[in-house]
Amino acid sequence: MNRITIKTTDKAHFYRQMIQQHGSPLLILDCDKLAQQYQSLSAALPDVKLYYAIKSLPHPAAIHTLDALGASFDIASSGEINLLREQGVAARKTIHTHPIKRDKDIRDALRFGCTTFVVDNIWELEKFTGYRHRVGLLIRVSFPNPNTAIDLSRKFGCRADEVSLLIQKAQSLGLHVKGLSFHAGSQCPAPDNHVLAIEQCANIIESVYQDSGKLLAVMDIGGGFPVEYSQQTGIHIDAFCAPIRAALTKLPEHIQVIAEPGRYLSAPAMTSVSSVMGKARRGESTWYYLDDGVYGSYSGQLFDHAVYPLTIFSDNTETEQAVLAGPTCDSIDVIAEQVSIPSMNIGDMVIGQQMGAYTSASSTNFNLFDKANIIAINQLELISENVLQFNQ
Ligand SMILES: Cc1ncc(COP(=O)(O)O)c(C=O)c1O
Repeated sequence: MNRITIKTTDKAHFYRQMIQQHGSPLLILDCDKLAQQYQSLSAALPDVKLYYAIKSLPHPAAIHTLDALGASFDIASSGEINLLREQGVAARKTIHTHPIKRDKDIRDALRFGCTTFVVDNIWELEKFTGYRHRVGLLIRVSFPNPNTAIDLSRKFGCRADEVSLLIQKAQSLGLHVKGLSFHAGSQCPAPDNHVLAIEQCANIIESVYQDSGKLLAVMDIGGGFPVEYSQQTGIHIDAFCAPIRAALTKLPEHIQVIAEPGRYLSAPAMTSVSSVMGKARRGESTWYYLDDGVYGSYSGQLFDHAVYPLTIFSDNTETEQAVLAGPTCDSIDVIAEQVSIPSMNIGDMVIGQQMGAYTSASSTNFNLFDKANIIAINQLELISENVLQFNQ
């Protein structure tokens, strides 16, 4: 169920101004907030190099902001490489983390200058034989996580007991395996699976060394760092990372630890602004039809299992039973049902919070409704010119 807040004043003016200037619907990307998220996670994981998972919000302003802060980047497709190239990001700050690639994907990444790739099976290893002198590989290990709806180990990663065989195969092909990687699941409610995976990867690294003398030097602890949606879990990133930090301190000193956070950096940085384009009384409920929905910015409610906190601006105090629906002709296009809210007029705004990750990235223009325009605010250049500043 979406958590809904009713507001009457303050930020309404800002959002109205933005709609007047840019139209509706909008997604407002606050680069300051993105920078704060990066700094918080860097502080919570001080010895971990962060590679932003571009897939969560592949927007030039996000890339530019994080690049300026010294972040590195996790890429998974040639499209993502093109975005980085356009933003002038140095290829040495990238790793390619898609475990399954076409030869063209590998060539595109190598041409860009990315030389670290993730593999999780023998067929994938064999794809690198022609590039053996130019690449270093990470083997992705699967650590299933029943506690999250987004369990990425279902689709990718080898079993822990398959790693040594893959390393032997890599050696026979003349390939350099640099280390291990995992993804503990996205929007993890607790750090248990990260800790388990770090401990088990440490064991694997130790036994590979004992068996073959090969030293694996990199451990990629993936993403999965959670944000607050409607559940009001009160997760604080420093507390979430404390057990992870403790597990990392037990690793041998030679191991370089990296991570691929997406959601934690991008989700809080973007806000959706949509408008009521029509309303109808159906049965016991008033249906409000917004100009954005689950085929658009709210696509994450389907694909990403997210339920976004909503804010409605209204001077009415009396509440009614309502449905908030998207604009398309499909009946699945409903954002929130059975909610109790003050009545709204056509043109009133509905604001969605925490909508930076896996929202615009997976939106469509079904029915040929335009996708929400993304407006970046508080960008580094703009701040210095003092053109537009807004603190959420
Ligand atoms: C390989 C890989 N790395 C990183 C991420 C980012 O994960 P999160 O957004 O949970 O931090 C994903 C998400 O799909 C992923 O597949």
